Amino acid sequence: MSNSTPVYASFCSIGAYIPEKILSNSDLEAMVDTTDEWIVKRTGINERHIAAEDEYTSDMGAKAAEKAIARAGIEKEEVDLVLCATVTPDYFNMPSTACIISDKLGIKNVQAFDISAACSGFVYLLSVAKAFIESGMKKNILIIGAEKFSSIVDYTDRGTCILFGDGAGAAIISATTDKTEGFVDIHASADGAYADFLVTPAPGSVHPASQKVIDEGLNFVQMKGNETFKLAVKTLTRDVVEILEDNGIKAEEIPHFIPHQANYRIIKAVGDALKMTSEQVVLTVGKYGNTSAASIPMAINDIYESGRLKQGDLMLLDTFGGGLTWASALLPFAGKKA
Ligand code: ACO
Repeated sequence: MSNSTPVYASFCSIGAYIPEKILSNSDLEAMVDTTDEWIVKRTGINERHIAAEDEYTSDMGAKAAEKAIARAGIEKEEVDLVLCATVTPDYFNMPSTACIISDKLGIKNVQAFDISAACSGFVYLLSVAKAFIESGMKKNILIIGAEKFSSIVDYTDRGTCILFGDGAGAAIISATTDKTEGFVDIHASADGAYADFLVTPAPGSVHPASQKVIDEGLNFVQMKGNETFKLAVKTLTRDVVEILEDNGIKAEEIPHFIPHQANYRIIKAVGDALKMTSEQVVLTVGKYGNTSAASIPMAINDIYESGRLKQGDLMLLDTFGGGLTWASALLPFAGKKA
């Protein structure tokens, strides 16, 4: 490629890893004061997968990455940047989970780092990968969204423990000179004024590890569920309307709307506002729950493995999470068939 040839970022492959153990609603009925009926009605979640005790975020991320690399048809040696989005890293906060995943994959001497944008992490990574590729700095970027969310969930808090699951998804983003394979657009934003809507108070510089942290459960995720819900519906809807309008694309032209899988009612409200059909809206929340940064790549992997996602299909991604952060992306799937 000469310096004057424009280069675009293309989404070349997808992979995911789903841990074996299932935590069902009836399991949760035995743990907290809740019912299967309440959980299904208010969230659409039937079950979620939970990592084994000795299975870490990097293990799940590495397994998803192996699939994404193989499906992209490249060698590990061709990966020149490894990025991981997670709020449940192996270690708070050093070394990064991206470094550990690189080592597990045998990828040596390439730049690797994590980003923290909660459920928006994977779409944030798409924007980072796009910038690295379009600037000509990198050619094949491995991006991973991986979470062992069960490691920060308080299984005595019925307001949060019913929602979250574990898992990982990964993709290869490569440089192309074919504009039709390139990302169409990404919008990403944040508002720290709502930081207290979703927070894991410890460990950190505010609350370093201490007996107080353990006694008060400050190491667990805390969420203002109802406030977050209302803001999520408003923000997610506004976000997709804006990205579609900016690019002159109508909602009915989108074959795959892949929203963050937090709550069926949020997804339904956004889909209805856009007059999307059930064929267009990808739904995995029922079987995986909310897997934070892994949620969108796990959902993409689902439609890939079921044969629904075809080469060239346009995907509309939309996400919202702690920070608060939010992001949307319009991009074709440039990969080969499943
Ligand atoms: N079982 C039974 N009852 C429950 C449960 C439960 N598991 N949880 C809460 N309740 C009760 C509450 O105590 C409350 O009872 P009360 O009226 O007697 O006080 C009642 O149900 C209603 O509680 P709400 O919190 O108002 O319930 P809501 O309909 O908002 O549903 C939920 C709660 C599912 C958490 C919802 O608010 C939600 O999905 N929020 C958004 C989550 C989200 O999108 N997060 C962003 C991404 S996550 C990330 O970034 C990591």
